[in-house]
Amino acid sequence: MAGLVYDLLLYIPISLVIFFFIVRTSRRRRLRLPPGNLGLPFVGETLQLIAAYKTENPEPFIDERVNKFGPIFTTHVFGEPTVFSADPETNRFIVQNEGKLFECSYPGSISNLLGKHSLLLMKGSLHKRMHSLTMSFANSSIIRDHLLVDIDRLVRLNMDSWTDRIFLMEEAKKITFELTVKQLMSFDPGEWSESLRKEYVLVIEGFFSLPLPLFSTTYRRAIKARTKVAEALSLIVRQRRKESNESGGEKKNDMLEALLATGDGGFSDEEIVDFLLALLVAGYETTSTIMTLAVKFLTETPLALAQLKEEHEEIRAKKMMGREGLEWSDYKSMPFTQCVVNETLRVANIISGVFRRAMTDIDIKGYTIPKGWKVFASFRAVHLDHDHFKDARTFNPWRWQSNSGATSPGNVFTPFGGGPRLCPGYELARVELSVFLHHLITRFSWVPAEEDKLVFFPTTRTQKRYPIIVQRRN
Ligand code: HEM
Repeated sequence: MAGLVYDLLLYIPISLVIFFFIVRTSRRRRLRLPPGNLGLPFVGETLQLIAAYKTENPEPFIDERVNKFGPIFTTHVFGEPTVFSADPETNRFIVQNEGKLFECSYPGSISNLLGKHSLLLMKGSLHKRMHSLTMSFANSSIIRDHLLVDIDRLVRLNMDSWTDRIFLMEEAKKITFELTVKQLMSFDPGEWSESLRKEYVLVIEGFFSLPLPLFSTTYRRAIKARTKVAEALSLIVRQRRKESNESGGEKKNDMLEALLATGDGGFSDEEIVDFLLALLVAGYETTSTIMTLAVKFLTETPLALAQLKEEHEEIRAKKMMGREGLEWSDYKSMPFTQCVVNETLRVANIISGVFRRAMTDIDIKGYTIPKGWKVFASFRAVHLDHDHFKDARTFNPWRWQSNSGATSPGNVFTPFGGGPRLCPGYELARVELSVFLHHLITRFSWVPAEEDKLVFFPTTRTQKRYPIIVQRRN
């Protein structure tokens, strides 16, 4: 009897594994999956992915598989079979068919911490409406007529306190956070925004942890910080709701006011808090990382820095004495700055691509993506592909001077995504970056305080927060 139990204990798992492989292989044949490797049961190729990104190569995992299997391949990462695309047409097809064939899909850690009413997780007609509302708060005319003044003022205010050695990444984060708080709720920076930011950092750290409170301290800390952030925002929402209901009060021209005035029957406080919280996340790490990396690449490319200096000195020289503030026409006369911004977004965008889930079996380029599978549209793999950009892995802002920057036709440059989820902050981010570079270049000279390497996992950043020694110019 004991022998029988023993045999069963041994054979049941083995049979299950064999069954698992047979089912997987036969379904694979039937569905013409893209070529690739699903790796080990359950773990898939997750460990290879993590190990690969510990090198300095920006796309080691994808490079290796594209060489072996072509630009569309199958793998299994973070617990799910996933089709990776390094093909611009397929990426376009994926983002354009949002809500029809694909839907957005974030890892559990991110969606739990964002909250279910965040724009990033909304779907269908509500998403459409709220996406265009967000766009209407960050479009060119709003930036020109309202936001630019604050962007300019807050960037200068932050830089006023810079002396000697600073961590550029930290300063850039502080600036972008303050700008977003101002844009969303009309608050000027102060103790309140700084303590909110400290909690925020903890929430974002939780994005890259296992969403299991029992096992992960980082995740537990992130959940606690999220509660604190939500409480602080709820208080603001309640106060503003009260002010809005009181007749005669002056209406503010910000996102919060628009949210309070929108919706049939209006949004609840919880919905508004989730919405604001996600907007604070969306522009924070992204814009501040690009600010920092633009400075790093420029420092390492003196010719580009010299040309940029010339562009900004010319703008400064044209301004009347005592009127340092930038205007829209100044922003529009920064062609080389836009080349630098594009090139930084191309070489080292923090958003390397987007995850989606197939809503049905989808045929593409002779393959089938099975219903329920994840797909990852890698923008970075396209941005760093020599077939689309000459010397693709070199920072060369001049490539944007002649044409679209690319050597191949079609839309191969998509740092802000595309389709219904196109980043609503794409113009705002460009303006923030340009204003930041203008004041940095015209007011300071700097040298790196120590060597700092670029890393790509779990996010794109420099290892040491890019410490620099700044010197104020006259
Ligand atoms: C350099 C800076 C930025 C980069 C590279 C960037 C990139 C992106 C990308 C690639 C997406 C598409 C995500 C997807 O398709 O799933 C996205 C979405 C989004 N971005 Fe940005 N972004 C930046 C700055 C900003 C700023 C300043 C804001 C503030 C308004 C913002 C707000 C958002 C929001 C709310 C979404 C979600 C849109 C949706 O799901 O409908 N981003 N961003």
